[in-house]
Amino acid sequence: MDYSFAAAIGLHTLAAVIWVGGMFFAHMVLRPSVTEMTASLRLALWRRVLPRFFAWVAASIVVLLATGYGVLLTGYRGGISGGNLHIDVMQITGAVMILLFIVMVLGPFLAFKRALATNDLVAAARWQGRIRAIVVVNLVLGLFTTFIGAAGTFVGY
Ligand code: HEM
Repeated sequence: MDYSFAAAIGLHTLAAVIWVGGMFFAHMVLRPSVTEMTASLRLALWRRVLPRFFAWVAASIVVLLATGYGVLLTGYRGGISGGNLHIDVMQITGAVMILLFIVMVLGPFLAFKRALATNDLVAAARWQGRIRAIVVVNLVLGLFTTFIGAAGTFVGY
């Protein structure tokens, strides 16, 4: 028996858990826990947390794309053109999430790091707010994508 589809979808799901779970923790648990801190402490904390998390997100994206398109291009359940609607929706929402992540890292995140390097806390807080807004959008999209990725298979086949 060939277990390569099973292994690929298993890895795909782990990557989704790391990305979406990380955003959930950052927004729903860490953020409300640090609101009482002074701005300089809070921003310094995010300066340490975000690059570590974003490295895991980048790795998760590579795994999601490699395993997702890996199975589709090798004939999984109708292949790249014959799959069910939930797979098409997942590719669209996944592409939006990946694009937003890249825009966020190259824009607000770099600006946030630059502002902190020059001790401009007002600008750093503003950029951190932009990062948070994009993470919220990606969190909602990620929860939705994970839900339809897992539930769609029971509806579509
Ligand atoms: C962007 C390109 C993507 C492709 C090509 C892709 C492809 C696939 C495929 C082919 C399946 C199997 C569906 C089935 O068996 O019915 C799947 C399942 C799944 N995908 Fe994706 N996916 C992508 C992005 C994402 C993203 C961004 C997430 C979440 C952050 C995600 C989360 C999931 C989950 C949770 C499953 C269900 C696994 C299971 O329980 O069977 N996918 N994906």
